[in-house]
Order: sequence, then structure tokens, then C-alpha cells
Amino acid sequence: MNDFQLTRTLDEHAAGAALRADVLHGLTRMPKVLPPKWFYDARGSELFEEITRLPEYYPTRAEREILLERAREIAAASGARTLVELGSGSSEKTRHLIEALPALEVYVPVDVSESALAGAARTLLAGHPGLRVHGLLADFTAPLRLPDTPGPRLVVFLGGTIGNLLPAQRAEFLRAVRAMLSPGDALLLGTDLVKEESVLVAAYDDARGVTAEFNRNVLAVIDRELDADFRAADFEHVALWNREEEWIEMRLRARTELTVKIRALDLVVPFGAGEEILTEVSAKFRQEGVREELAAAGLDLVHWWTDAEGRFALSLSVADGPRAADG
Ligand code: SAH
Ligand code: TRP
Repeated sequence: MNDFQLTRTLDEHAAGAALRADVLHGLTRMPKVLPPKWFYDARGSELFEEITRLPEYYPTRAEREILLERAREIAAASGARTLVELGSGSSEKTRHLIEALPALEVYVPVDVSESALAGAARTLLAGHPGLRVHGLLADFTAPLRLPDTPGPRLVVFLGGTIGNLLPAQRAEFLRAVRAMLSPGDALLLGTDLVKEESVLVAAYDDARGVTAEFNRNVLAVIDRELDADFRAADFEHVALWNREEEWIEMRLRARTELTVKIRALDLVVPFGAGEEILTEVSAKFRQEGVREELAAAGLDLVHWWTDAEGRFALSLSVADGPRAADG
């Protein structure tokens, strides 16, 4: 059986306009910033998969360990007939959940990377005949229109990707997720936990330089899409732990003074030697913080599971009242 449907809520035109707006805004302010979703073209998605297999990048292995250990409890708590996954990527870990959910009929992966969605659907359908896969090419930080599928729904957001949103964006995102949940639905959320600095920094600055290449890939995306002349080699990958905010910051640091032409924007961007672009934060969490952020969005944390080493957590939460209330 080959039951795959893809809904594009991002046409190329809208995506191009969004990239131009983000680049114009982000590279003409001080300090310079770029939003992380632009890492993930086909090459970026491939590099991220490579990151998940690096010895230093523990989150994927820790989260998979929890999923394998707790799949039955998650399935029993949710009884899902529809599984919605935000930022699904390769859906590689999700397989363990799909296998554990006996009533599952439809899987709805949501991602900005069309190559990741297509690749995930291909492998999932091969392994799960009878499963309907309805992919959504969409930005999960914008309002989402989910396909009409049977409840109960389990919404999952794995990989610690929530940590890539800033606190105010996280609050808005969680309120939007809350608004998607009906009574009986649940949210399964993966959060990386605060730990020793050296372990955290190594996870974002691996010895082989794969993460550095991933970070610099955003420059290649801008070069290609906006006819710019960034040279990736002119920028150094920087990962550092911000102790006050409890997040990792990924930056790209100009090795020398230089200028970049972005022809599609008719823009010249000057860089001082050592000047940086903030390309991503990856926040690390504590149980109380997760509980509070969920509660502020109208979600009740009902389960908290960690891996044996306490590096990563999965939490299950449910809407704290009837749908579409104060949300
Ligand atoms: N869930 C997978 C992948 C995590 S990487 C895992 O745990 O391994 C983050 C994923 O989110 C990528 O596939 C990326 O393409 C997607 N993504 C990033 N920002 C997004 C956005 N704003 N909207 C939708 N998808 C996004
Ligand atoms: N969601 C991943 C994380 O925060 C994304 C990620 C991993 C990432 N390594 C990266 C983003 C390096 C930018 C650069 O762990």
C-alpha cells in the first residue's frame, strides 16, 4: 500500500519572501541574528541526521532510550488514533512510538524540509503498510491547520527542538499546541536537560566538525536562494554555554573584516573582524521549568520520564480544561 499525501502550506514564493524578510531584518540589526529554520534544506537535513549519530551528540540516543523504555506507557496513556509530529525530520525515533500504538491510523509529520518529509514517508510506509501518512510542509511557529483525522490525537515534539525557540516564542507555541488539543488528546514533549558545561558544548561542537558544517550551511542557503556571496570558510563555528539563560548559543564568527553582497535584497552587509551572527539557541531545561511553562499554556504535566543518566526528558501533558477556553 502507498498511502501518502502531502499538503504544502508553504509555497516557494511565500518561503522566499519569508527568507528575504528574515535575512534583511536579521543581518541589518546589531547583533546579527538568523532564525534556525533556514538550516534545513536537503543538505541541512542530511547534516542534521549525521549529527544525531555523532558520539558527542547524546540527545538523540538518550531520547530513543526513553521512547523504547516507555513506549507502552505512552501508548496506554494516549490511545492515539492520530499521531501528529512537529519538526519530524527523518521520523527515525518516531518509529518506536508508531509500533507501540495499537489504534494508530494516521501519522501527520509536520516539517519545513520537504526532503525530510518525503524520505520519512518512504521508510515508514515500507515498514507499516496500512498506516496513512499525511505530511504537512509547514512552519510550526505559524498557525497550523491540521487535517481532519480521528481522535484521540497524540502531538509529539521531539529532539529538544522546543529549546530552539526563545522563551516568548515557546510560550506562544505551547498555547497554540494547547489550542489544538481536545479532551483525551495529549502532548509528548522532548526536552534536553541542564548538565555539565563540557558535555553540552561538545554536543554542539563535535571533533569531526559536522556541527560546524551544519551551522555554516545556512550561509550556503542564503547564497543560493538570495544570490549572495557568503563564503562559508570566512566564518568560524562557535558554540558556547550561556549560564544565565541556560542555553547553548550557536554563532558564526567572521574571521576577518569583510563584506557580503546579497543581490536579491540589493544589500551589502559589512562584518567587523570577529563579528558574529547568532544562528541558534538550544535551551536546556529542568523539570520545574518545563512544568511551569506547560502550566502557563494551560497544559498539565502528567508524566515525566528521563533516560538512566538523567540527560534528557520526555514529558506527557494534557489540556487542563475544555478546548478553546481561555487558551
Ligand atoms: N524530530 C527530529 C528532528 C529534529 S531537528 C529528531 O528529533 O531527530 C529539527 C527539525 O525541525 C528539522 O527536521 C527541521 O526541518 C524542522 N524545523 C525546524 N524549524 C521548523 C519550523 N519553524 N517549522 C517546521 N519545522 C521546522
Ligand atoms: N534541535 C537540535 C538541538 O538543539 C538542533 C541542533 C543540534 C543544532 N545541533 C545543532 C542546531 C547545531 C544548530 C547547530 O539539539
